[in-house]
Amino acid sequence: MITEGPKIFTDQGGLSLAMEVRELDRWRQKKRRILVVVVVLLTVAGTGAEAWKKEEFKRCDQTIFCRESRNREFGSSKWYINEVNVTNGKVRARLVNGEDVEAEHSGSLILHLSAYQDGIIRVKVKEADPKKKRFEVPDVLVKELEEKRLWIQRVIEKDGASMVVLSGHEVVLLHKPFQLYVRSGKETLISLNAKGLFHFERQREKREDENWDDTFRSHTDSRPHGPQSIGFDVSFYGADYVYGIPERATSLALKPTKGADIVSEPYRLYNSDIFEYLHESPFGLYGAVPVMQAHSEKKTTGFFWLNAAEMLVDVLAKEKAEEGTEDVSRVDTHWIAESGAFDTFFFIGPGPKDVIRQYTSLTGKSIMPQYFATAYHQCRWNYKDEADVFQVDGGFDEHDMPYDVLWLDIEHTDGKKYFTWDPVLFPNPKEMQEKIAAKGRKMVTIIDPHIKRDNNYHIHKEAQAMGYYVKNKHGGDFDGWCWPGSSSYLDMLDPEVRSWWADKFSYSSYQGSTPILYTWNDMNEPSVFNGPEATMQRDNIHSAGVEHRDVHNAYGYYFHMASMEGLLKRGEYNDRPFVLSRSFFAGTQKVGAIWTGDNTADWNHLRVSVPMLVTLGLTGITFAGADVGGFFGNPDPELLTRWYQLGAYYPFYRGHAHLDTKRREPWLFGEPYTSLIREALHTRYALLPYLYTLFREANVNGLPLMRPLWMEYPMDKHTFAIDDEFLLGTDLLVHGVYSEKATSEDVYFPGSQRWFDVRTGASYSGGQTVKVLVTMESIPAYQRAGSIIPRKDRFRRSSFHMENDPYTLVIALNDTYEAQGELYVDDGKSYDFEKGAYIHRLFTFSNGRLTSSNIASDSKGTKEFTTPCVVERIILLGLKSKDLSAHRVLIESSGTQVPAEIGPSLLRKGYHQTNSLVVRMPKVRISDDWSIKVL
Ligand code: GLC
Repeated sequence: MITEGPKIFTDQGGLSLAMEVRELDRWRQKKRRILVVVVVLLTVAGTGAEAWKKEEFKRCDQTIFCRESRNREFGSSKWYINEVNVTNGKVRARLVNGEDVEAEHSGSLILHLSAYQDGIIRVKVKEADPKKKRFEVPDVLVKELEEKRLWIQRVIEKDGASMVVLSGHEVVLLHKPFQLYVRSGKETLISLNAKGLFHFERQREKREDENWDDTFRSHTDSRPHGPQSIGFDVSFYGADYVYGIPERATSLALKPTKGADIVSEPYRLYNSDIFEYLHESPFGLYGAVPVMQAHSEKKTTGFFWLNAAEMLVDVLAKEKAEEGTEDVSRVDTHWIAESGAFDTFFFIGPGPKDVIRQYTSLTGKSIMPQYFATAYHQCRWNYKDEADVFQVDGGFDEHDMPYDVLWLDIEHTDGKKYFTWDPVLFPNPKEMQEKIAAKGRKMVTIIDPHIKRDNNYHIHKEAQAMGYYVKNKHGGDFDGWCWPGSSSYLDMLDPEVRSWWADKFSYSSYQGSTPILYTWNDMNEPSVFNGPEATMQRDNIHSAGVEHRDVHNAYGYYFHMASMEGLLKRGEYNDRPFVLSRSFFAGTQKVGAIWTGDNTADWNHLRVSVPMLVTLGLTGITFAGADVGGFFGNPDPELLTRWYQLGAYYPFYRGHAHLDTKRREPWLFGEPYTSLIREALHTRYALLPYLYTLFREANVNGLPLMRPLWMEYPMDKHTFAIDDEFLLGTDLLVHGVYSEKATSEDVYFPGSQRWFDVRTGASYSGGQTVKVLVTMESIPAYQRAGSIIPRKDRFRRSSFHMENDPYTLVIALNDTYEAQGELYVDDGKSYDFEKGAYIHRLFTFSNGRLTSSNIASDSKGTKEFTTPCVVERIILLGLKSKDLSAHRVLIESSGTQVPAEIGPSLLRKGYHQTNSLVVRMPKVRISDDWSIKVL
């Protein structure tokens, strides 16, 4: 279905009522769980049940910096450049505020402009004489970045402007007023301050009559360093839509939030534990990545602001163009942050994949997961005890359903003390894990960042003694409330604390852990039940005196990083870590996976999971999923089945549920649902070789697995606002079913090639929307004509048992009878692939011949990877009926001939094809060069 162009958010009243009811409800649920905590909490903090209302979270007009910045008029910025030179290969310009000329020197700003290979411009602006150095977020940019910096030799001065000419593009700095334009040839791509909203609150002394305190509900933020916000406009020229700035539950193409008749909050980036979030809202959720992509059929550009403070972004409604004057396809945006550094990056594209490559060349490529982590995960809050674990594990075997990982939530611990086990419920954790391991499966335990303030808890005692906790404004250990009650929070910004934390994952320290136990980090926004906006105070202090306000959005990232480092250390740096996190920031892709938090078991949440995950992919974070089934509430079997069917195509595939929900292991709903869910799981497992190949692509060049259609079809305007379907890699098109009792779905088939239904082989021409019939059997999914997809079609208990299974190659021929595909394989667990231990094959079908050739980059590898796997079946789709007589194929390397039959089945359900040929047992090895000729 083609969604209409983005609508605006207007229904604030409706939203707020719904949200209040839900938050109250959530509060009630939680109240049952933490009754004791709540009683104390109510006494201590005087908050009460209403603490979970929407009013708990700030609107823009409740924050001074946001209100003032948002109300600023176009052209109000009075900054101008009064001096430009080139120093150390960078352009250095002095900015002076025309309204404040006496402060010309002490109050000026210094702008540094640098350029990097591959179309990246960086602009930093700092106070010339800062009272306090602004916080620059460390460990986000890759270490090699400096090596990619281009040496700017000179600027060309002309007509009150300075111009830096780079290869293929240029940057123009207008002096008065200060404006910056990134251009390519005669075309402007992106601008800074073209709308005159640039505003930089320089840190200053407090005036006598001034009060810097900011009070919100019962909390007062002392703001000891006073106002220090930064705001500016960025315009994307020739753009139809903008995308990005997760995390929120809303459409993929970002709707305007400001303009005539629009009543909406700006998009907020302030990591928050918003319970029972709405499926359609600009409110920020658990993670933040301040990166935006702009796209039209002519070009794609991007912008990134490396800043972890609270940020708000307005997308301005397009102005009506005066005939022949305005570039109608421009999108203007307004960015505001409470504090932190002005460190920005402009990406020149020109295509969507270029922008992702440019952005991930700064912030890192996606981690290469272990093979098991790409399979299905079974979670619940909580599996009660060891017997429950075995029963669930056995249930999968009994019902012939594959799964790879069983998860334990907070109740497995001894009183919410992480790295411990409840002695009654989990008395033999090692034996339990060994039994699970014997089936080739893994386990995950939850490790949250709040540390119970219990003097008998070794982690707390050490952290307190070492001074490793975040401090409150008075210098004492910050004490907030979370699952365990009174808790302190480790200062994960400090590398020493991270390293200490990492050691806690060693087998000797984490008693009861074994090598198959991996990690889940939750509540790391951080969630503080009695804190302002359910998080910690902004005037809390981290290492080197950094205020929490500056580091807030990256706190969860550092915690995730420290845990990941722990698993690395534990495995002597040769067992790839797996850590799932709820909170994230720019760069999270190099650390681990994330999920979209506490969604709800309703159809809207199923649907919004697609734009949420596709958006994350645009920001480099591709290893992501949504709770299958919905966390809150009880899905009926139809919704649950649809979720399993869609989730089979999420990069991270995990079923999860709230403590108060009914049990929902996938066989509990009886037929036909058990079989339908089994089929969905089988679809996932069959596709693991394809998915793993895509994960490798993400690891090498940053491209996401789940892609918006416009990433592959950038010229097709029709695709720009589609967000109910997506591409998995280049070759699979997936459209969820998002409503009850659906009998059809409108599927848009992009491109000029046909698409083959992955179950039936029926094909549809590209470039059209088709109302396709759907049944409960499956959701619409299609293979692109011109592609070859490697699958493993034998079903086992877990992916481990599939390791040496043979492959099926599904060849979907295009109009010229050609197709191509890739397969990447390594040991699925170690880092030996970085030393060359992998195979990477290219399959090509042309002129009636299928060839397999090596495309492993010419690594000077010291390690090798071998596999005994063979191809057991080749399926050819898209032959004309005249070619569909029985054939033989010649395996050219061995000279043997094998029959090719008119195909009986594609997947397991016995779809008899009229247009496919099946070659059984060609028995060529997957790692060898070979060719097979259809005779
Ligand atoms: C949070 C998580 C959820 C988890 C629960 C208990 O709500 O988002 O996934 O089950 O905490 O740990």
